[in-house]
Amino acid sequence: MNASWWKECVIYQVYPRSFFDSNGDGIGDLAGITEKLNHLVDLGVNTLWVSPFFKSPQADFGYDISDYCDVANEYGNLDDAKKLIDEAHAKGLRILFDLVLNHTSDQHPWFIDSKSSRNSQHADWYIWRDGRGPNGRLRPNNWRSGLEIKSAWHWSRERKQWYLGTFLPCQPDLNWRNPQVREAMFDAVRFWLDMGVDGFRLDMFGAIMKDPDFRSNPFHPYFEPSELFRLWRRDFTENTQDNFELAKELRSVCAKYEPERVLIGEVFGPPDVLKQYIGDGAGLHFTFLFDFLAFRFNKEYFTNRIRSYEKHFAPPFLPTYVVENHDRSRSFSRLGQDIFKAKVLALMMLTLRGVPVIYQGQELGMPNTYIPLAKAQDPIARQYFWWMPEAISKRLSERINRDEVRTPMQWTSKPNAGFCPENIQPWLPVNNNYLDCNVEIQSSYRNSLLNWYKEILHTRKECSSLSRGDLVLISNLPEHVLGYSRTYETETVYIYLNFSTRDEHIEVGKGKKVILSSDPGNLLGETLLKIAPYAGIALKEI
Ligand code: GLC
Repeated sequence: MNASWWKECVIYQVYPRSFFDSNGDGIGDLAGITEKLNHLVDLGVNTLWVSPFFKSPQADFGYDISDYCDVANEYGNLDDAKKLIDEAHAKGLRILFDLVLNHTSDQHPWFIDSKSSRNSQHADWYIWRDGRGPNGRLRPNNWRSGLEIKSAWHWSRERKQWYLGTFLPCQPDLNWRNPQVREAMFDAVRFWLDMGVDGFRLDMFGAIMKDPDFRSNPFHPYFEPSELFRLWRRDFTENTQDNFELAKELRSVCAKYEPERVLIGEVFGPPDVLKQYIGDGAGLHFTFLFDFLAFRFNKEYFTNRIRSYEKHFAPPFLPTYVVENHDRSRSFSRLGQDIFKAKVLALMMLTLRGVPVIYQGQELGMPNTYIPLAKAQDPIARQYFWWMPEAISKRLSERINRDEVRTPMQWTSKPNAGFCPENIQPWLPVNNNYLDCNVEIQSSYRNSLLNWYKEILHTRKECSSLSRGDLVLISNLPEHVLGYSRTYETETVYIYLNFSTRDEHIEVGKGKKVILSSDPGNLLGETLLKIAPYAGIALKEI
């Protein structure tokens, strides 16, 4: 295995509950992922990230863990996990698991013990505080939960104290200032590294180390680049100096393993802050960059972001590109379900310099599947259900009910889209577009989105400039055409993306050939290139 294999990662996110159900209970499982690994190989990705499948009461579908070193029954057992790792490796894939370090489930034995009394063995394993005011019933400070609308402090009747749960009340935050917690969690990390996993996606990593003095966050309404509205800055609860140190400590745990294991953090913040996680001698290999989750489909939007990423994450750093995931809207819906636009977006995200992260079903153009809040299984949606009128939630471009982006993967035209047996009800409804939108059918016609993804990813493998090259934005192009070149050693590839509704013409000079074209209307003459509306093309120097 190449030592810096991670520099050429193309990641595919599998949400196990919805990928493939191998045992007919309507819920995806680990053996199901193993069974479908060939889909990933055919697609041309090289790294797989599996969302949590550990023991959990599933209050947040696995992001609430009650045993870090075991598998939830519905997903299989430890042998299935080992088999998945081994089979992935046998097929030349790397595999990343999802580490939820910030919080456990409130059903974790550590928390059950911790909340039982202030003197229990695990009393100090979570973040407990006395309240303010005469009988301590005022919250210790103003820290908000991930959902912003509620406080992050939750009252425990047993201990008559507040505990911190930055996400949901059933996800109490661990006290990472306690060395016993660190050791126990690092043991869990080693457990999976010993089993052979190639690294981790780190859930809510930026939030782990809070201010030791518990200072309140400053009031400051703002929009995050990924367009989440916030009322308080998170100076004392996110990206603290101690958190950067923790990243290094985690890296040193992984550094004992060969070949190198990769760490990719879910962290939020401006580029100069995120960069500190991956700077010289820092802890992580990458952080997700989430701006593209809220993309506007136009040249200006993408050019600004690419320029900013190229500036802040210039080589040897690598930006990451994410347009959808298990928490946020499907990109195909953001694009008005327009396949031409989806092809442009795919060409862009898979040919930019950096690490693309594809979410299962993105390659088919799976859209959001509307599910009313009243029917939601997602705990976030259930929080909104009490006060958000359906008429409003329905119209939001961002999905409040994350079930809508987690519906079963569509494999075939059979009932239940081949995700589970016909007579079984899948845990979430299958989108009723599955007859046209599934792996089997899209493999069979040439111009499908799936085949376009395959074509780009296979070209990316063949052209070192696409997987390793530098990127330069091309200037003097028509108003709505975005262009950039990628160069590695003597090889250069040019990518042009037309964001307008009409043909565009560009003088590209002699000596080029087309290596990727999203539309038969694209034409390369001797020196003049015509690009069809909402189309993309890649040219290579002959
Ligand atoms: C992350 C996960 C999300 C989960 C949350 C709490 O943001 O992506 O699905 O609900 O953390 O663990």
